[in-house]
Amino acid sequence: MKIGFYQFTPVFGNIQVNLDKILSALQDAQADLIVLPELPFTGYLFADRTELAGLAEDPRASATVKALVELCQRQGFQLVTGFAEKAGDKIFNSALLLGPSGVVNVYRKLHLFDREKLYFDPGDLPLRVNPVAGAKIGMMICFDWIFPETCRVLALEGAEIICHPSNLVL
Ligand code: ACM
Repeated sequence: MKIGFYQFTPVFGNIQVNLDKILSALQDAQADLIVLPELPFTGYLFADRTELAGLAEDPRASATVKALVELCQRQGFQLVTGFAEKAGDKIFNSALLLGPSGVVNVYRKLHLFDREKLYFDPGDLPLRVNPVAGAKIGMMICFDWIFPETCRVLALEGAEIICHPSNLVL
């Protein structure tokens, strides 16, 4: 199994510029799975919930996700990416597992860090694993690592690899 990751400095609030940068960087990538950072499209340091609400997207009606799924189709890989997720009147700091067939799994960050609590809702979905190229993949996001229960639950679910999109502000 071949896994890659892509790190960069997002331009805050400019989803299109950040998406274009990722699409261009990965256009020829050969891998089974590629992992992107936490909140790579919006950036991380929101002023308040209103600003976040203007940038968050519903993954099932998102031009960003559509472009990433098309990339997965062209290159034949799967992607784990951070994502500012709008779901009704809630907004989650999420990680998506995407593949050629679309959205495979959504994880919503359970342990919000510092000011994230002011504008994101805490995750409300169970930790789950999904098969990717013969391995069981789990997802968690940045500050989740500090609570051993996150890894423990994923391990009990059978995770063999944990993908961990992060945005380290320290
Ligand atoms: C963090 O959870 N982004 C520190």
